Amino acid sequence: MVVDEGMQYLSSHGHEKTGNDVIFSWLARYQNAAAAGADAVNGTVGALLEDDGSLAVNGVVDAALRVAPATEFSAYAPLKGLPAFLDLAVTLALGDQREVLEAGGLFTGATATPGGSGALFLAANNFAERGDAVLLRDRHWGPYAGFLRGCQLKTATYPLLPQTPSEASPFLDLQGFKTQLESLATTQKTVMTWLNDPAHNPTGLSLPGESRAALLTAFMESAMRHEHTGHTLLIDAAYHLYADEPHGWAETLAEVLASGVPWPENMVICFALSLSKSHTIYGLRTGALVYLHPEVESVERLNDVMGVTGRQTWSAAPRIAQHVLSELHASPSGGSAWSDERDRLGQLLHRRRSAFLRACEARNVPVNPSHDGFFAWYECDDPVAVAESCANNHVYLVPLSGGVRIGLCAVPEASVERVAQALFEAMEATS
Ligand SMILES: Cc1ncc(COP(=O)(O)O)c(C=O)c1O
Repeated sequence: MVVDEGMQYLSSHGHEKTGNDVIFSWLARYQNAAAAGADAVNGTVGALLEDDGSLAVNGVVDAALRVAPATEFSAYAPLKGLPAFLDLAVTLALGDQREVLEAGGLFTGATATPGGSGALFLAANNFAERGDAVLLRDRHWGPYAGFLRGCQLKTATYPLLPQTPSEASPFLDLQGFKTQLESLATTQKTVMTWLNDPAHNPTGLSLPGESRAALLTAFMESAMRHEHTGHTLLIDAAYHLYADEPHGWAETLAEVLASGVPWPENMVICFALSLSKSHTIYGLRTGALVYLHPEVESVERLNDVMGVTGRQTWSAAPRIAQHVLSELHASPSGGSAWSDERDRLGQLLHRRRSAFLRACEARNVPVNPSHDGFFAWYECDDPVAVAESCANNHVYLVPLSGGVRIGLCAVPEASVERVAQALFEAMEATS
């Protein structure tokens, strides 16, 4: 790149970091069109907006933050996180199944992180041997690649959807997953897979219970077959509290263990928890890595490993939301007031998604299966051409690798029909 010429002070891995985030550049296109007076639709951002275009804020969280003592804003948090927050993080990850899993002999631990991104970084930094590949679905959140590359890791992928969907598993390419898993388990010292479920970014896909069970069983069987290979299943729970089955993974885990499948000791299951969306505190950078294992010593060791990694990277995670949210959820009225407001925001998403899927169906626009969360997805060969065609109608979406992301979180319900129509016209123009 011309700008980099002569910048010998930048390391070779520094030189590799290029480009503006594509999401922000398409948001800028929307903003320019709107500023020029166009009746433009914003389907670019990844934050939940009210139908009037303002940022949706969970009022209960906001009110609780505003009355917190000054010292809770100013002070450091303990390096591993406030104990009450760590406890809350486990509950938010596992829901009602927490008791069942703990009573069944599992130990749980957590480390507070700056958002879900921090939790993903902790996992990348510690669960995979440098140079190993981490297993992802081929459609995934773009920054995964950067987190992994930054930790000298590669990626391996399997298709998001099976080519011929079976009735038992219409939304999971189980064979693709197993094939890649076996190949990694036989060639690497560590196997880690990241799964953003439920409410996948960028498609809105959520795996049903049978698919979760099939994937978990395959993973446990691989760990048993390859007892000297570390196995980490990381559930990226960035949007789970807006899903129909927010704690489906904890339920599946409880079911699979109850069916008598033993937990392989070389396996750990983690949740990368983000409070950014569920509590509308994107900028307060609060999340946690939650981990489960049948040996308490393993969990205690992970507490140290993750705490030290955080210390060496960002010091402690911000304190204020850890404090406020652990107090809020500890009070029954606070917890239910938060969930009422969360439900209102969830309904907003639900109405937009239903209207969008209906409008696409009416026009035979083949959007991907989309169930929960912030996004929907149009798979196509030339995503930039499709996004450009939509932009001609002042509908702004995000072209990513393999398709176009529709940010239902940002599109007002009244404009959803226009998005479907723009996609229809793009489909006609590009096919
Ligand atoms: C799939 C996915 N995982 C993790 C995150 C991390 O969120 P944050 O670091 O803001 O908590 C996001 C945020 O957009 C996401 O979309």
